[in-house]
Amino acid sequence: MKAKDTGQEAESSRQGANLIFNSDAIRERLIMRKFLIALATLGELLCVTACRVENRKAANEPAQPAAVAGEARADGNARKWWKEAVVYQIYPRSFKDSNGDGIGDLRGITSKLDYLKSLGVDVIWLNPVFSSPNDDNGYDISDYRGIMKEFGTMQDFDALLKGMHDRNLKLVMDLVVNHSSDEHEWFKQSRSSRDNPYRDYYHWWPAEKGKPAPRRSFFDVNGDAWKFDETTNSYYLHYFSQKQPDLNWENPKLREEIYSMMRFWFDKGVDGFRMDVIPFISKDTTFPEMPAKYKGDWGRFYANGPYVHKYLQEMNKEALSKYDVMTVAEGTGVTTADALDYVDADRNELNMLYHFEGVSLGYLPDSLKIPDPKGYSLVEFKNIYSKWDSVFADKGWGTIYLGNHDQPRMVTRWGNDAPQWRELSSKMLTTFLFTMRATPYYYAGDELGMNNIKFARIEDYRDIESLNWYQQIKNKGGDLRQFLEAQKIAARDNGRTPFQWDTTANAGFTTGTPWLKVNPNYTTVNVAAEDNNANSCLNYFRKIVKLRKDNPVLIYGKYTLLDQDNPDVYAYTRELDGRKILVLLNFKDKPVSAKTGLDVSKAKVLLGNYPTASPNGQLQPYEAAIYEFW
Ligand code: NOJ
Repeated sequence: MKAKDTGQEAESSRQGANLIFNSDAIRERLIMRKFLIALATLGELLCVTACRVENRKAANEPAQPAAVAGEARADGNARKWWKEAVVYQIYPRSFKDSNGDGIGDLRGITSKLDYLKSLGVDVIWLNPVFSSPNDDNGYDISDYRGIMKEFGTMQDFDALLKGMHDRNLKLVMDLVVNHSSDEHEWFKQSRSSRDNPYRDYYHWWPAEKGKPAPRRSFFDVNGDAWKFDETTNSYYLHYFSQKQPDLNWENPKLREEIYSMMRFWFDKGVDGFRMDVIPFISKDTTFPEMPAKYKGDWGRFYANGPYVHKYLQEMNKEALSKYDVMTVAEGTGVTTADALDYVDADRNELNMLYHFEGVSLGYLPDSLKIPDPKGYSLVEFKNIYSKWDSVFADKGWGTIYLGNHDQPRMVTRWGNDAPQWRELSSKMLTTFLFTMRATPYYYAGDELGMNNIKFARIEDYRDIESLNWYQQIKNKGGDLRQFLEAQKIAARDNGRTPFQWDTTANAGFTTGTPWLKVNPNYTTVNVAAEDNNANSCLNYFRKIVKLRKDNPVLIYGKYTLLDQDNPDVYAYTRELDGRKILVLLNFKDKPVSAKTGLDVSKAKVLLGNYPTASPNGQLQPYEAAIYEFW
């Protein structure tokens, strides 16, 4: 039918051409020739496009948005699988225990691969699974080529990787190479004598030179990042706990060990690395005083050391460039001014970086994460995410997240976990994450609307950060009650409670005693219950993952903030190839209105968290709606 229609159209235009030029035969012939050439070229173009579409279908790829079709376009628009991917983060210790020891493990994850597939996500990022004494739950690695005993064996890892690849899921590991464990063989050798061949794998300061200039440790009870070690009468550097000595990247031998270890995992088929505090790896080894310009901001001071980009370019050349893998930097201390230095494709370093500006909002200045009693300002929140979007307008690529293993539960911190708002506000935040121009990193359990457990007693916490900060405050005679209250909102253990599978004991996470208490709300907030409920957070998540993947405008489309000063509503458009999407998000527990200048009565609702979207510009509490203008 279609082909016939087109034929009729072509016939009538041919007749039209004849009528026009009938009076002048020569002119007619010349013009007809041009016309036929144009027709042939058009035909060829149509054929090439059709063939491309067919090839793409065969390769099962999404349609190529015109704005990103040209290979020569700016890097920000160049298509890459990791830009189109949805990354789902699993904290292995808390996901699923297969052997009843109360600790999640690799076989547990393997047993849930069909669940992961059902979410529609593409990439699974696993927090560290390498051998570790677990001072900081795996961020203290004692063997980079071994698997943590509690998590299983290398055979279990290989089976997990195969199970993922069989389902077209990619696996990204956690690369923790700013520091190792003090139980790593390198450190054992290094600390044994000043002339040991491994001495320069770490940073040492001989005590006869006096105490080095202060460095702050994020986890140390005394906050001191220099630890005196009697054996060699020297101090070693540890930005994190005393059991996490910093590796010396200034030593080329150490760097080659790291690249070779990376190739080992890539050769196994691993699809990428998330890189722990990677901006910290290079240090000025004269260890000067912290310059005043940093105003006591240690993260900022530690980031972007003198040779960090030289090392990342070397890493790219020696390992990353040899494989089709993705990389994402934990961008501690990185600002909008220096982000592109890490992820501009022309520099051959990393692919993506996640910043801390957003998730740091709403804490009192210079505090151990004490939330501001006034809450956080949505206007500031919008400005931060808009500013970060603009960094990657032409080059590089962003990430977006609200939850991970270092953060409390997204719904408690950024939404509202009171029973009447938990689901609505959780879906609203999920809508934000999936409609921004950046790769979404989504934390396991947030798809269920899991919220903070809010421990009342320090004895319930397991995280070194909470435990050591508590001790630090206690030693200084500080306000422990205020700290414990704050931890109910801010503590990392809130995001680490076991995943909630069903209503059986311990939420189906373990048959043993869970390493960290299960949130008592597992009886209603769990996969089994939400699977069967069309309106659950879980099924909303599945829908929005699909919506993003089906609509390149949500991935690559230009982002424009609307109604910037509105204190309640986050409103923005996304545009690509003549398509225009409007996203309206009410961050408050009351009806509000937005002035976007757009008439939504003329738009179609693609997805929302209420059964019917509100009339023009009005939003119900925590309402989220995605509109398309036709
Ligand atoms: C950042 C990681 O995300 C966090 O969990 C860890 O404690 C520190 N780096 C130290 O490795």
